[in-house]
Amino acid sequence: MGRIGRLETPHGVVETPTLMPVVNPNLMLVEPSELERFGAEMLITNAYIIYKKKELRENALEGGVHKLLGWEKPLMTDSGSYQLYEYGDVEVSNKEIVEFQLEIGADVVVPLDIPTPPDARRERAENDLEKTLRRLEEAKAVLDGRDEKPLLAGPIQGSTFLDLRERSAMAASGMGFDVYPIGGLVPLLEAYRYKELVEIIITAKRRLPADAPVHLFGVGHPIFFSLAVALGCDLFDSAAYALYAKNDRYLTSDGTYFLEDLQYLPCSCPVCSKYNIKYLKECGREERARLLAEHNLHVTFAEIRAVRQAIWENRLWELLERRCRAHPRCSAA
Ligand code: GUN
Ligand code: ZN
Repeated sequence: MGRIGRLETPHGVVETPTLMPVVNPNLMLVEPSELERFGAEMLITNAYIIYKKKELRENALEGGVHKLLGWEKPLMTDSGSYQLYEYGDVEVSNKEIVEFQLEIGADVVVPLDIPTPPDARRERAENDLEKTLRRLEEAKAVLDGRDEKPLLAGPIQGSTFLDLRERSAMAASGMGFDVYPIGGLVPLLEAYRYKELVEIIITAKRRLPADAPVHLFGVGHPIFFSLAVALGCDLFDSAAYALYAKNDRYLTSDGTYFLEDLQYLPCSCPVCSKYNIKYLKECGREERARLLAEHNLHVTFAEIRAVRQAIWENRLWELLERRCRAHPRCSAA
């Protein structure tokens, strides 16, 4: 199912598959304007974080979210669903956060879907899904009445119940969205439950329009790109480059290392060409986080380019077989 695509947004065209780096408006390890140099074509930020903080909210309403971040290219905003998942509650309604995303000029707007954790009780998963579907309807109605015409995302939920994932994808397809993110996957990814991840993706993908972009929420480790693209996914987003960097973790296309376990730097990106392992281990915390974030971004986008090249050569399967050797759970998946 791997394909090269063109996604048209109000702020320009994006080539897919691609990764949208997550920008946290409160702490920017790498300035958004700099992200283009690594290969970023589109970013994702969190509308709820902006909404919650008076100063950010007023700036975004005044000059738009693009100006707030210093990025004039395509930009997706998430709704606060992840905060809902993490903290159990958010102080905004679906309608309010969808309207806010319109007002600040997002290119892709996301309703406040409800991410149900894996292995939830069936009744909970069903209730969350019904509520999510009503919110998707409501978001469509809000957009219908407005002049702004961003893309609207229709997230797929359903926990680890494949029939609910199927129902979710069919209902969203029936309403018609511009982008279909598959949500609630982060806990599976963190637990190396790749086989279930693959089953969920296949189940949803089969019920989505073939020409619509499919996004995997919160999936951003390069080890997984070739497999996910082969399953028909087009968009990824991740804060991994920055979160990992803060914990001294070094990404490679076939796994993550703690810096202390490395004797050498097995990479030729600008950071790894300029500095050696000794320097990275001994420099200050802040400089190390910054250099690791840059390395992690280079590796991530190099893998995106490798996936695109493999698609052109009709050799994506070979690439994913090589990548999946890196972890037994990945080859099992
Ligand atoms: N980020 C990570 N997972 C999710 C999800 O399920 N929904 C939304 N809206 N954002 C996410
Ligand atoms: Zn490097």
